Amino acid sequence: MKGVILAGGLGMRLSPLTKITNKHLLPVYDKPMIYYPIQILINAGIEDILIVTGGNDAGDFLRLIGNGREFGLKHINYTYQEGHGGIADALSLAEFFADKQSICVVLGDNIIEKNIRGMVEAFKRQKHGAKILLKEVPDPQRFGVPELDGDRVVRIEEKPKVPKSKYAIIGIYLYDNMVFDIIKAQKPSDRGELEITDVNNAYINRGEMTWDVLDGWWTDAGTFDSLLRASQLVAKTGANKI
Ligand code: DAU
Repeated sequence: MKGVILAGGLGMRLSPLTKITNKHLLPVYDKPMIYYPIQILINAGIEDILIVTGGNDAGDFLRLIGNGREFGLKHINYTYQEGHGGIADALSLAEFFADKQSICVVLGDNIIEKNIRGMVEAFKRQKHGAKILLKEVPDPQRFGVPELDGDRVVRIEEKPKVPKSKYAIIGIYLYDNMVFDIIKAQKPSDRGELEITDVNNAYINRGEMTWDVLDGWWTDAGTFDSLLRASQLVAKTGANKI
């Protein structure tokens, strides 16, 4: 299995912090944000990693991470998203890299306390389809929210005004290679983006989606409040525990 980190987009919700740098290079406690998703993948046993970035500061990723020596890697891959066509648009750039294998996708602003190795291993046994991870949150309307029927996920709504559950879909997704065909068949949403929620709903409609609840804390870091919260959580308990 290969790993893909999505670190493009404009980070508008963090302006003016993101006026002169990419969101994922901002600090979360004592490290640049992008360090956390890299470590998520490595801790899960995934060392073949692609970073998708974009904007004016893409060169800074190379200066910061290089070939990943600081993480014990020999090599790391990069690609560039032109514009900000959405999470699924950024993911579509990973098709060549994935080379028909399954992928673990991590959004570049997602930070977790523990290790997802168990979920990655469960997905390997699943053989095909997709797996998402859920976490109970106080503000589900900020996220993709699943509608559950027993242990079945029926549908996901992106940032619903009236959430159908108290769970957020966190930004770690496991997909088989069909994901790239699914994205090719997608149309941009009302806000002009290829939505990852539409990709996940396509897997649900095919009857090929499973889910787990994440163990330990999770946060995104894409708003002022969540960026602060991320730093506080990391300072208090540490992230990416083995
Ligand atoms: O954090 C989890 C949430 O992430 C999910 O619950 C939502 O379903 C999902 O849509 C996403 O919501 P956000 O509104 O937080 O997504 P955002 O636009 O902040 O993008 C998250 C990351 O995806 C960002 O840090 C970099 C990457 N991205 C985003 C866009 C729009 C790209 O690489 N390219 C893009 O064009």
